[in-house]
Amino acid sequence: MNQTKIIAHRGSKGTHPENTLEAIEEAIQVGSDGIEIDVHLSLDKEIIVIHDETVDRTTDGKGRVQDLTLMELKKMDAGSWFSPEYTNCRIPTLKEVFYFLAEIDYKGLVNIELKTDHYSYPGIEEKVITFAAEKKWPFTVEYSSFNYQTLIRLKEVDSSCKIALLFENNGENVAFLGSDIPVRMWHPKLSWFKNKSLFETPEIPVRVWTVNKSKDIQYCLSKQVAGIITDYPQKALEIRNKW
Ligand code: G3P
Ligand code: MG
Repeated sequence: MNQTKIIAHRGSKGTHPENTLEAIEEAIQVGSDGIEIDVHLSLDKEIIVIHDETVDRTTDGKGRVQDLTLMELKKMDAGSWFSPEYTNCRIPTLKEVFYFLAEIDYKGLVNIELKTDHYSYPGIEEKVITFAAEKKWPFTVEYSSFNYQTLIRLKEVDSSCKIALLFENNGENVAFLGSDIPVRMWHPKLSWFKNKSLFETPEIPVRVWTVNKSKDIQYCLSKQVAGIITDYPQKALEIRNKW
């Protein structure tokens, strides 16, 4: 049985400003097996690592990512909202994240969540796959999305890419994407997983999100899940390593 992987949600969201290089660096320093990041497209079609469709919550700027250029996004302070000590944090591009990870020779998993559930960002799937294929990275890349058309598109662009079905509920009813793409990994919400596990063991490997409480981390470990996606990777690793 493989050990449960600890995957840092939006970097180390609980301890650092989410989806910044600082949060990602923290996640790696504490020994996370993987990181999860979210991506959107800017006005000038750069792949931007940020959670929301707008910059309002996590920067000192305002507006939709898709209406702002990379240069405009780069001027924003993406850390002060979290704590004054992170004033210099910037919104990273996917390219910056990958090169940062390559520089430190990170060998874990990078789960890119394509945030196409509100806006489809036409072409984002091709852009992300093409960029990821540009170079041989020391880490593994996998994809997830709440938008199943995005998962299908990713597979159309690169049939060998690894995708996970991301869902809050009812993912078990989706055995195939399109007519012939089998679902091989589930990224379910914790509440669904807990409910499901009361009655039966999920038939497909799961990486559960967002698992932050010690008792939930322990519960997921007891169910031998493939992965735990958490805002507190250090805490989850401590619990897992004592398990
Ligand atoms: O990929 C798991 C999790 O990140 C999904 O929800 O909203 O935090 O991106 P969200
Ligand atoms: Mg996400």
